[in-house]
Amino acid sequence: MAEKITISLIKADIGSYPGHGRVHPDLIKTAKECLQRAKDENLLIDFFVTNCGDDLCLLLSHKKFIENPEIHKLAFDTFMKCTEVAKGMKLYGAGQDLISTAFSGNIRGMGPGVAEMSFFERESEPLVVFLSDKAEAGMWNLYLFKIFADPFTTPGLIIDPKLHDGFSFEVHDVIEHKKIIFKCPNEMYDLLVFIGAPSKYCIKSVVRNSDNEIAAVTSVEKLSLTAGGYRGKDDSVMMVRSQSGFPAVGEILEPFAFPALIAGGMRGSHHVPVMAVSLKDAHPTRFDSPARVVALGFQLNGGNFIGPIDLFDDPAFDLARQKCNEVMDYIRKHGPFEPHRLPLSEMEYTTLPYVMRKLKNRFQSLK
Ligand code: F6R
Ligand code: MG
Ligand code: MG
Repeated sequence: MAEKITISLIKADIGSYPGHGRVHPDLIKTAKECLQRAKDENLLIDFFVTNCGDDLCLLLSHKKFIENPEIHKLAFDTFMKCTEVAKGMKLYGAGQDLISTAFSGNIRGMGPGVAEMSFFERESEPLVVFLSDKAEAGMWNLYLFKIFADPFTTPGLIIDPKLHDGFSFEVHDVIEHKKIIFKCPNEMYDLLVFIGAPSKYCIKSVVRNSDNEIAAVTSVEKLSLTAGGYRGKDDSVMMVRSQSGFPAVGEILEPFAFPALIAGGMRGSHHVPVMAVSLKDAHPTRFDSPARVVALGFQLNGGNFIGPIDLFDDPAFDLARQKCNEVMDYIRKHGPFEPHRLPLSEMEYTTLPYVMRKLKNRFQSLK
């Protein structure tokens, strides 16, 4: 009998150069060595290692299901080994995202971002893997809504009978640790009440209404909340299944032709546009902005990864990138003012509260 395969996408910033720039090739090499050993021992079917800016990303396939302690430990040990290498080179922020150095059975809540899905591999299984840098966890909300609920983006919702019943969205309240499911298109307006506020509500997963089949999953870990203080932005990841009953690859990429504004950028404290880029441009230098997103296309073959294809390496996204640079120039002119700088409620998770505390006693009552 066919067995489900599981794809685990786990990422962490465990050091970069220069500053919060990009992952050093030696870390990629170290991660590959660790994962190759696990593949040789049959723990993994296959793996792929890459980076988006300063975030090291591990894409793993296996038969151990989601939230598996062995797989999570493998990712954790890989990040620990890479941290050693990063420390040896005095890379910046070495070990930054590893909040604890003692593994306790699940990597969730220890700093790294985790997105996992299990399914029976179809006759042909296209998968699109998204990685981000200098971006908040809820950044996928707008894109996932457009991909799975907006017929102006995905005509398949209207004209393909396999998509016509729509999709359901699992939304996490990342501040109060609650979740709720909205079935679209019926509950589209209810869904938008919440996901329009991505600093609190993040879409965790999407399933197909007709058979509850998993369609997409994201990492919703908010680093500042996990760490109890500012450690850079979340730089989350997402996976989307494609074609034959799921949105086509082109429908999945289409929303990224719009450079949406999100929270991220310099010191994780600004609204900046998102730029869809190829891997070679996935490392912001100017003002740690615009935030970056890359899309890697794979075909699965018995859990083996065929690919990737660097999907935003396409001149069709040039206009979006130009608009993104214009929006960046425009919003930058606000300097330390909102709406470029985040509102105070969100600045709670940065270093600003320390400065505010210092000045607290200087305020005099107006009464
Ligand atoms: C954004 C990010 C950077 C840093 C900035 C200051 O996610 O990581 O923008 O916040 O470079 O970094 P520190 O405080 O390490 O000097
Ligand atoms: Mg960093
Ligand atoms: Mg990063």
